Parts: sequence; structure tokens; C-alpha cells
Amino acid sequence: MIIAIDGPAGSGKSSVAKTVALRMGFHYLDTGAMYRAVAVAAMRRGIDLSDGVALRDFSKSRRIRFAYEKGEVLPSRVFFGDEEMTDFIRTPEVDRAVSPVSGCPELRGDMLEKQRMLGAVGNYVVEGRDIGTVVFPNAALKVFLTACVEERARRRTLQNERRGIDSDYESILQALKDRDNFDMNRDVAPLAVAEDALELDTTDMSEEEVVDYIVKLAQRVRDEVCGADGGAGDDNTAGLPEIGDECA
Ligand code: DC
Repeated sequence: MIIAIDGPAGSGKSSVAKTVALRMGFHYLDTGAMYRAVAVAAMRRGIDLSDGVALRDFSKSRRIRFAYEKGEVLPSRVFFGDEEMTDFIRTPEVDRAVSPVSGCPELRGDMLEKQRMLGAVGNYVVEGRDIGTVVFPNAALKVFLTACVEERARRRTLQNERRGIDSDYESILQALKDRDNFDMNRDVAPLAVAEDALELDTTDMSEEEVVDYIVKLAQRVRDEVCGADGGAGDDNTAGLPEIGDECA
């Protein structure tokens, strides 16, 4: 069973998706981290970030792998091939570089393939921009999180401060507006609400309220639709269009 959590940057997807995964006992897949890992590795090698074919060929040559810190229940480490990217993917520089990278149709084809392989079997909370629309269109539950851009900028500023990253509200606000604009208007798999997704405006909700709401829904869906085991043995890719169809 897949729970798809999509939404714009700073909507609280990551924290919510992780807590929902923990409470449901599901695996967790952060697809944004995958785009970020490719962006960092490509920047290190001086690959032209607007060259979709070069990015795809480079990405295709490596596996992207998530790993657990000792004692962790959810994976927090990300590897591109043998290179650990964990500490490098969330800088303001990568925030800026990753939008055009993720807008390359050729690269998205490879990401789609990798994401479907990673989430193919078992119970997953998958977070991103196009999970409910493209990657897992038959997800059992689709949630689209939103919040007004000022609130998202406030949350991101606090998050950066907690991580010890220099941050200033006004530039974060502008960067979020730029990324929203880019993510919503790109040609391939733009940020959009799936027809059958629940849209949740979290501007005035606490993280706990959002998580509680999703967990209740997910429990109902699991019990009613998939049976008590959540369809854990199911192949989540059954019935999906052939990989490449959306990205040709
Ligand atoms: O969620 P995030 O900020 O870590 O995502 C990083 C970038 O990747 C962002 O520009 C949106 C893009 N992305 C995407 O296009 N599709 C996804 N499924 C996940 C992220």
C-alpha cells in the first residue's frame, strides 16, 4: 500500500510524511532527496545542469540508495552510487540548483524508474511533487499538502536555523516563490493536485493535527480497502503504465 504525500516546498511534507510512516509502521521514501543527490553529484563533476540527456546518462549509471543510521527506524542517509550525499543535499545552493535539474524530462524518466523500483513492494509513504499524479497514480491514499507561501517561508527559516544553516526570511520567501513557479509550470510532471487527492491546507494547523488527520484516514483506507495487513505483499507497480510513457 502506498500513501502519496505531495505538495510545494516548505509545506511540511517531509516531517509529516516521516511521522505518518512511523505511526503506520510503513517504509518512507523521499523522492526530493533523489533529485537533490543527482544535482550535487552532477555539480561536483561540472555537468551542465540544463543538459537533460547528460543528467539522465549520469543518473542511469548509478544506483540511488537510502540507508539507516544505527538505531533509526526510517532511513536518513542517501547515497548516489558510493558517494554519501546526506550532508550536502539541503544547502541553499542546492535548493536553487535542484529545480532546473528536476525539470529535465530525460532525468525524470530515470527517476520514475528508480522510484517505482524502490517503492515496488510493501507499505510506503512516498513524498514528492508528482507521486499521486505520475509515480504511483494508483496509490491507496493521496494527500496534497499546501500552506500559504509566507507560512512556508516562516517554517523553512526556522528549520534552517535549527540545522545551523544561515537563513533570512525574505530571501527564503523569494526562493520559495521561484520554486513554486518553476515546479508548477514545468512541462513534465508539474506540481499538481491529483484528481483523487485530499487537499489539506495546513496554514493554520499544527504538524500534530496534520499527522493525526492523515493517520486516521490511512488506517481507514488500510482496513477497508487493503485488508488488515495493508496489502504488504502487494506489488505497488501492478497496473501502472509502462515506465517512460509519461516522460517520452
Ligand atoms: O521536496 P524537495 O524540496 O526536497 O525537492 C527537491 C526538488 O525536486 C524540488 O525542486 C522539486 C523536485 N521534485 C520533483 O520534481 N518531483 C518529486 N517527486 C520530488 C521533488
